[in-house]
Amino acid sequence: MGIAFALFCFLCINAAMGPFSTSQYCGTNCHEMDTAYQSWQASSHGGNPRGVRTDCVDCHLPPKDKYFTHLFAKAQTGAKDMWLHHFGGEYDADAVREKVVEHFEDEMCLHCHVDLLTRPDSDMAADIHKEAVTPADPAEALKCIECHEGIAHEG
Ligand code: HEC
Ligand code: HEC
Ligand code: HEC
Repeated sequence: MGIAFALFCFLCINAAMGPFSTSQYCGTNCHEMDTAYQSWQASSHGGNPRGVRTDCVDCHLPPKDKYFTHLFAKAQTGAKDMWLHHFGGEYDADAVREKVVEHFEDEMCLHCHVDLLTRPDSDMAADIHKEAVTPADPAEALKCIECHEGIAHEG
């Protein structure tokens, strides 16, 4: 199963702009993705009353406009990581989750949530984000995912 998963990830990432990159394909073609797919469907990113959907590749691959610059630096490394990590071993969702969280960059969220700091839904969100994302001491900045873990994979 490990090999199949590695191959799947590799295909998914390398064919990122092709037919294999739809959420449905990514989420339903190997059982390791079952939990991720279902939790995504249940989340506000997988579907919300406004009919906007954020696909797997929107978060798990560099923004499309920077596709070529980032592809080799990041996606390829990620694919290799996954490949090596999964070659022969059982899929360990917790371990992968930790790894994703560790490497997840704010940029991935901010290319959609562009007006986060200027047009928040509430004063509370405004204060929290200003304090967390642009603190007086940059060393104290928190990453989006440190507070919003599980944002696309609830439960
Ligand atoms: C491709 C665009 C896109 C990307 C990338 C994206 N989001 Fe979203 N986000 C949305 C949309 C669309 C909604 C739904 C807005 C609505 O329901 O009105 C949303 C809703 C949210 C909400 C509020 C709803 C909730 O469930 O609490 C939060 C918080 C959020 N996103 C955080 C994030 C974080 C953190 C990231 C990065 C891990 C991220 N988003 C990446 C488009 C995106
Ligand atoms: C210190 C923790 C923290 C960090 C770091 C953080 N958020 Fe939030 N965020 C919150 C809280 C708490 C709320 C809920 C506020 C509310 O319910 O009004 C929120 C709300 C949101 C919302 C809902 C819309 C809104 O304006 O209320 C979005 C979208 C969002 N965050 C995106 C992000 C993104 C993108 C980042 C990274 C740039 C980020 N957050 C970093 C704590 C955080
Ligand atoms: C809004 C951004 C976003 C979207 C959309 C998204 N993910 Fe994720 N994904 C994350 C983040 C962030 C994590 C790290 C763990 C967490 O925060 O839940 C993660 C973790 C994962 C993991 C590792 C943990 C596990 O449950 O196995 C897999 C696999 C995964 N995502 C696959 C998918 C697939 C497949 C889709 C589409 C059906 C998808 N993701 C859509 C942001 C996203």
